[in-house]
Amino acid sequence: MAKEKAIRELEDLPGIGGTTAEKLRAAGLDTLEKIAVASPHELSEMVGISVEAAKKAVQAAKESTTLEFKTGSEILERRLSMGKITTGSKELNALIGGGVEVNAITEVYGKFASGKTQLAMQLTVNVQLPRKEGGLEGTALYIDTEGTFRPERIEDMAKAKGLDSKEVLNNIANIRATNTETQILSVERADKLIQERNVKLIVVDSMTSLFRSEFIGRGALGERQQKLNQHVHKLQMLADKYDVAIFITNQVMDNPGILFGDPTTPIGGNVLAHAATTRLYMRKSKESKRIVRLVDSPNMPDGECVIKITTEGITD
Ligand code: GTP
Ligand code: MG
Repeated sequence: MAKEKAIRELEDLPGIGGTTAEKLRAAGLDTLEKIAVASPHELSEMVGISVEAAKKAVQAAKESTTLEFKTGSEILERRLSMGKITTGSKELNALIGGGVEVNAITEVYGKFASGKTQLAMQLTVNVQLPRKEGGLEGTALYIDTEGTFRPERIEDMAKAKGLDSKEVLNNIANIRATNTETQILSVERADKLIQERNVKLIVVDSMTSLFRSEFIGRGALGERQQKLNQHVHKLQMLADKYDVAIFITNQVMDNPGILFGDPTTPIGGNVLAHAATTRLYMRKSKESKRIVRLVDSPNMPDGECVIKITTEGITD
């Protein structure tokens, strides 16, 4: 039997020429996996080939796609070699298992002036550090919805790390979003930027404030949560696809339902609670001190630590 050509693209499927492949792509069936699970009848109608031909194409697509599984130890090995960004504080790093992780969403919530933006800016500097110093030798994308990104602060933080502040600033792509459409689009269209600029950290500061101001009242809550959900899923997708760390900030409100203890609750409800891999709660303490509480983590015990915000940035 003649050796068949390996099937890698739609065009390699039997009976699928260039024009048909283009039609399939236009209809959203742009990968072999999608063809493999399509119904031959649907396919035949969609692109105008016979059902017989469609059956053959689907069968070939099925045979060409394999499901890959990884063992637990392979995942562990990958996780150990996976990048983490130092926060600048050894205690905070220890609290969250070494630093802010790639392939994951880390959320920090807290009241105004608790230090969320300071930490976010610090990470855009630290991600640029050499790996042995706790960086990922990458660049950052900063989506600023509040207009509080301060290049002067970045300069301070960069100098404190012995980095060239001009270069550090050039390695931070900044998008000022003043409405949720821009905020959503800057994530939807980030693929190219991530690849071209070796982005290893995406900050959204703040994730929720525009959503909160645009979708007002009970009637808008459903739509708000739905949009927020899609937005956060796209971020997770980018994190997985490009090994990027996602760092989002979030405001708080007082939950009247909590009678004992701290009633401070993050905005965004279940949508954000489920999306964030690691949740941190920051609050002010004396002077430059801030208390960071680990609220939710897949593999670290809950706990607290104290960090400091100084002119040099985040420290112990
Ligand atoms: P909102 O965005 O308003 O919710 O607050 P936030 O949590 O983002 O607060 P942010 O990170 O902006 O923290 C502001 C605080 O950081 C200030 O009140 C200062 O205490 C501290 N801070 C900011 N810049 C400096 C600085 O240059 N030196 C020092 N020592 N502290 C600073
Ligand atoms: Mg802020």
